[in-house]
Amino acid sequence: MPRHFVDLFEFDPAIARRLIEHALAVKTAGSGRPLSLKGRCLGLLFEKPSMRTRVSFEAAITRLGGSAIFLRGDEVGLGVRESVADFARVISQYVDILAVRTFSHKTVEELARTAQIPVINALSDASHPCQAMADMMTILELTGEVRGKTLAFVGDGNNVARSLAVASAMLGVNFVLACPPRYAFPSDFLERRAGRFPDAPIRIEHDPKKGVAGADVVYTDVWASMGQEHEAENRKSHFAKYQVDDALLGLASPGAIFLHCLPAKRGEEVSSSVLDGPRSQVVVQAANRLYFQMALLEWLLEGDRALGEIRP
Ligand code: CP
Ligand code: NVA
Repeated sequence: MPRHFVDLFEFDPAIARRLIEHALAVKTAGSGRPLSLKGRCLGLLFEKPSMRTRVSFEAAITRLGGSAIFLRGDEVGLGVRESVADFARVISQYVDILAVRTFSHKTVEELARTAQIPVINALSDASHPCQAMADMMTILELTGEVRGKTLAFVGDGNNVARSLAVASAMLGVNFVLACPPRYAFPSDFLERRAGRFPDAPIRIEHDPKKGVAGADVVYTDVWASMGQEHEAENRKSHFAKYQVDDALLGLASPGAIFLHCLPAKRGEEVSSSVLDGPRSQVVVQAANRLYFQMALLEWLLEGDRALGEIRP
């Protein structure tokens, strides 16, 4: 059975920690490492637009000695031109590993059930695990430790926020969601998180100032995600007081960093002065997608030995 990277709830917290440490080691080693995935081929199937995820995956497999083939969702026509399972069985004959960006999370799950190769969730409506794990690597790199830190996510309880909430639980980060009441996490998500990580702290605040107070990391994302464009105008009024601007960021801890998965809507969820300001680490954050995904590809294709010695 191949390994998959679809849902952080099913991911081992000890492996998560080793993976972010390995990603940092990959970054530090630079070009001095052997080509660990020489001759391997990564398929990329994207039903939604992407810049960072697509390019960082293509760059990651290329740097490791392999190659990538990009497939547009409308050309493949999953569930329209052919069934998800037929696609999964056939693509497994051509490539060694598949990264998929879909609307429905169920599509990624079905691909993982039916493919004979590892499947990576490159963003679904429910989650964005590659982003969240790369962000944990960024916090480790910039602050020296993730455990015990507080991450305040200001805005929509969306795919990125949910994956950050699960990654935080796995790695000992205190998670705060500051959002308008109707945009909080659904109860089934909160119950699943509490069931899997009963001791992991989480706080939902509707006052953004209370949410950000004392945080070590302040994070935001767009108010309307891909597929929700028709709600964008309506959401602007609901989220108006949740913009991360200098005044709000000023309530965080003195050394706090600002993160955003990007792409950003300047003047909506974040002011340009914050995005371009001294606390913003969004470029380092985007760069780390490459290193985390190099580590992830190695782990999925080569197993635990790719992560080096098991720590006690
Ligand atoms: N952060 C992120 O996933 O960006 P893209 O949508 O450009 O891939
Ligand atoms: N929440 C955003 C993230 C984009 C990287 C979306 O799904 O559009």
